[in-house]
Amino acid sequence: MRAMVYRGPYRIRVEDKDLPRIEHPNDAIVRVTLAAICGSDLHLYHGLMPDTRVGTTFGHEFIGVVESVGSSVRSLKPGDRVMVPFNISCGSCFYCARGMLANCHNVNPNATAVGGIYGYSHTTGGYDGGQAEYVRVPFADVGPTLVPDWMHDEDAVLLTDATATGYFGAQLGDVREGDVVVVFGAGPVGLVAARSAWLLGAGRVIVVDHLDYRLEKAREFAQAETVNFAEHDDVVVHLKRITDHLGADVAIDCVGAEADGSFLQHVAGAKLKLQGGSPIALNWAIDAVRKGATISVMGAYGPVPNAVKFGDAMNKGLTLRMNQCPVKRQWPRLFEHVRNGHLRPRDLVTHRIPLEDVAEGYHLFSSKLDGCIKPLIVPTAA
Ligand SMILES: NC(=O)c1ccc[n+]([C@@H]2O[C@H](COP(=O)([O-])OP(=O)(O)OC[C@H]3O[C@@H](n4cnc5c(N)ncnc54)[C@H](O)[C@@H]3O)[C@@H](O)[C@H]2O)c1
Ligand SMILES: [Zn+2]
Ligand SMILES: [Zn+2]
Repeated sequence: MRAMVYRGPYRIRVEDKDLPRIEHPNDAIVRVTLAAICGSDLHLYHGLMPDTRVGTTFGHEFIGVVESVGSSVRSLKPGDRVMVPFNISCGSCFYCARGMLANCHNVNPNATAVGGIYGYSHTTGGYDGGQAEYVRVPFADVGPTLVPDWMHDEDAVLLTDATATGYFGAQLGDVREGDVVVVFGAGPVGLVAARSAWLLGAGRVIVVDHLDYRLEKAREFAQAETVNFAEHDDVVVHLKRITDHLGADVAIDCVGAEADGSFLQHVAGAKLKLQGGSPIALNWAIDAVRKGATISVMGAYGPVPNAVKFGDAMNKGLTLRMNQCPVKRQWPRLFEHVRNGHLRPRDLVTHRIPLEDVAEGYHLFSSKLDGCIKPLIVPTAA
């Protein structure tokens, strides 16, 4: 089959790879019909994620058609159209039993923190991902769900990560009626978080980024006020000024380890790897909220960013909440929001790229070229 293959930082290509096989009675093989590139894939692409092995296939946001199933799979059969959450979960361990589907203890030999994720390095289990014609789906009775008849494929694929994560970001922000919510990052995750903040009762939503085309999308897709941080000497002072000098009630970090906005932090974190990423967006969040506020962190970080303003967070009495998104837990409510038109994830799609040109997709998305917000990957076997 044809598959995206990692060859080293900034070097990916499409190669022939062996078809994945059923390795366990709980496995299914899925023929991928649509995949996406996620902001998290960019951390891999930039060589920032430890133990990203050459030869790995990325892709944790995908839908497809069941090709074959192992002998113990009960809920799926060949021909079923399925959407597959980015988390691989066993469904029955201590964490899965408590709904912590992103923290499954059985699917990753390094599962002291995160559980299993498709195509996301050996730190999350070493599974091959869905930017390929076929993918092996372990615990096939647990994660995959039939795509509802009424659902658009492009909505379905974005529900397997970006949409669920953005919504989760707003949920962890514990948004109360009338709250002022500041979202850092106007990528797909931040845009959905901003839109979701309204659904949860926000009174005001402000999105911060430095890419004007994305801020324009924030105004249109999420009806948010926008702030371009590059236009302010000190974006925190500006955010305080426009929030009665108290600060926002909730901040959602949808940026993560590769944040721009501080040359020093960016070089130390993203370039020299002296710490697990640049915490500049997180620090802005800590500074820009009022005392007693909640900060929700969806952005991905390496294990040890060491310049986080932790003392300020403590002294302000902040609540910090964070996790990888437990995707399937969000689906019942999100399906309703999509069906009712409260959320249209497919409005975020800017590019539909054939699998053969996947390298071009990474380049466009990474360098934020050609108005790129969300690139989809269309496999050739589809
Ligand atoms: N928790 C989860 O389950 C989960 C799931 C998906 C993605 N993520 C993470 O969420 C983050 C966003 O993903 P995405 O797909 O939207 O990525 P993206 O790269 O498209 O978006 C990130 C945006 O942040 C902006 N930005 C950079 N520095 C900033 C700063 N200091 N302040 C405000 N904005 C800044 C960039 O210009 C960009 O628009 C990534 O770190 C990704 O790894 C987490
Ligand atoms: Zn992702
Ligand atoms: Zn589990």
